[in-house]
Amino acid sequence: MIEELFPPEVRVVRADAEMASEPLHPQEVSDTARMAPKRLAEFRLGRACARRALAALGYPDFALRNDEARVPIWPSGVVGSLTHCEGFCAVAVGPHSQLLGVGIDAEPRRRLKTRILHRITSDAERQHLASLPPAPGESDWGLLLFSAKESFYKCYFPLARRFLGFRDAEIEFLPEEGRFHARLVAHDAPSAAGRRSASGRFGIDANHVATGVALPAR
Ligand SMILES: CC(C)(COP(=O)(O)OP(=O)(O)OC[C@H]1O[C@@H](n2cnc3c(N)ncnc32)[C@H](O)[C@@H]1OP(=O)(O)O)[C@@H](O)C(=O)NCCC(=O)NCCS
Repeated sequence: MIEELFPPEVRVVRADAEMASEPLHPQEVSDTARMAPKRLAEFRLGRACARRALAALGYPDFALRNDEARVPIWPSGVVGSLTHCEGFCAVAVGPHSQLLGVGIDAEPRRRLKTRILHRITSDAERQHLASLPPAPGESDWGLLLFSAKESFYKCYFPLARRFLGFRDAEIEFLPEEGRFHARLVAHDAPSAAGRRSASGRFGIDANHVATGVALPAR
């Protein structure tokens, strides 16, 4: 499913069971002092995925630290994003020469509660969701929209350094193509390197939905 989320210049690595025991880079260990066991486990898995992905791009043994806003500090020349949830961890990286940014998100499959859907969508978005055919694999458009917004945010924030509420951007799905468009609707929100919208793709498997956003450099 993760292969479908990005254009070919993006490399995606999903964690497997063996990666859970991989040690952190010594410089990453210093970031874990106050982490509870569950948080430490997801952090380690994310770093194991990142190590593999970065080695494939020519950056072996890179210590992936987060900045004060929790944004990963990738090697210069690389853009990337990571996600972890129950049973799923993945990293997406790509060359800065071709991409301004990427965002990835995964969620355990479930039906989003109506109360939450209302909190994260506009009236127009809910009308759009209601007009769509049933979501693929009996998944939930509301959950896919939630994930799409998280992916958009992870791509947007490192460029604009501005927090976005869930109603600051809107999502439109193109169901037949497995894609979506995300666009800023908060007029006071700064653009991300001149862009106010981005395209994304979604994927679904038995247990998870996942989304990816890539902002081409062009
Ligand atoms: C930041 C946020 C998107 C992270 O999601 P999450 O539910 O914690 O879980 P995920 O596992 O999918 O992602 C976590 C990873 O995202 C990355 N991340 C965290 N904050 C980030 C940010 N501001 N920008 C980019 N990446 C970020 C980190 O790599 C983090 O993992 P790590 O701490 O182990 O390195 C989410 O917590 C959040 O703050 N959401 C509110 C803002 C939002 O999504 N608005 C929608 C606007 S349309």
